[in-house]
Amino acid sequence: MKRMHNKTSPRKDEHLKICNELDVNYDLISPGFEKISITEELSNFSDVTPDIVNLETSLFGKKIDFPLIISGITGGSEEGKKINKSIAKVCDKFNIAMGVGSQRAAIEEPQLASTYQVREYAPNIPLIGNLGVAQLLDKTNGEKVKLAVEMIDADALALHINPLQEYVQYEGDKQLSNIISPLESIIQESNYPIIIKGVGFGFSLNDMKIIGKLGAKYVDIAGAGGTNWTKIELYRHKKEFSFSNEFVNLGISTVESLKNAVFVQQSFPYKIIASGGIWSGINAVKALLLGADYVGFALPIVKAYYNKGEEGIESFLSVFLIEMKIVLAMMGIKNIKQLNERKKKSCFHNKKRL
Ligand SMILES: Cc1cc2nc3c(=O)[nH]c(=O)nc-3n(C[C@H](O)[C@H](O)[C@H](O)COP(=O)(O)O)c2cc1C
Repeated sequence: MKRMHNKTSPRKDEHLKICNELDVNYDLISPGFEKISITEELSNFSDVTPDIVNLETSLFGKKIDFPLIISGITGGSEEGKKINKSIAKVCDKFNIAMGVGSQRAAIEEPQLASTYQVREYAPNIPLIGNLGVAQLLDKTNGEKVKLAVEMIDADALALHINPLQEYVQYEGDKQLSNIISPLESIIQESNYPIIIKGVGFGFSLNDMKIIGKLGAKYVDIAGAGGTNWTKIELYRHKKEFSFSNEFVNLGISTVESLKNAVFVQQSFPYKIIASGGIWSGINAVKALLLGADYVGFALPIVKAYYNKGEEGIESFLSVFLIEMKIVLAMMGIKNIKQLNERKKKSCFHNKKRL
């Protein structure tokens, strides 16, 4: 029997357990959608009904039925393999995109590749590979990108970056300097679309400018207010350190990060994936109206899986989609084209800081 873990795998399984069993939310920051009201745009007299709302769009040249992505969560262990399979089957059913978790474990130990390989369950969906920027700082980075993409027959690769998590993680990479130049080479030289992806800390206006200048065509903002990775890593320290609550709640909210991304998009036309605590259909609609091209989410999928397996993920998504369709119908919006016409991006375009 093949060994289904390496030194990275137990940590990833621990993350799953913590996310399922403990409170991993921010206490002092919300994603920020409560400040965005769309109720004035909902009408009692709309001619559009939810059943005719069609949110078909495309990602990496593939048609998807909704602008949604289940963000990278897992892989590298027997547990991860089971979860990836369930997520893939549900994504295939709803025809939406899926990300796998960091493929670092399988780069270190190739026999773990099967724990990320889900193409047989979802032959046509956009599938996104995943590596950490921290793992790409040596000369073999181009090879690792190719390896990760080909390993799972992916359509794109997300490169996640979250120095704060690395700094508080026991085993984290504490040497995250000089990353801009290798990142630029990867983006410029890669044959695959690269997504620069946050992990729940968000991106400042300056960081978005750096990402834009790197030539990235996709950014996943993963703002603060959803899953809190500082908290998750601190649970693993088992109270050995007691960082201040202010420190544990550091981050740039999802709405604020989206604002930054939309502003910089005027100069660098990348596609924006909004994520970070977007756990309801109504907040997904708000994110799209604020300028996101796609919406991603992770934590509710973990909770739904542990609650009721594949069926749990399916129920979560069904409700999410019903919410989206009802809200859009009441706004009189039938499709993505009409949604794009109603975007409220303009409210983000006049940022004072340039
Ligand atoms: C259990 C779990 C494991 C995750 N592992 C990864 C990972 O390996 N790579 C990555 O880029 N993001 C990872 N994420 C982060 C998510 O992809 C997402 O960016 C983040 O959780 C924000 O979305 P959320 O607030 O909806 O959870 C993970 C999230 C969860 C909940």
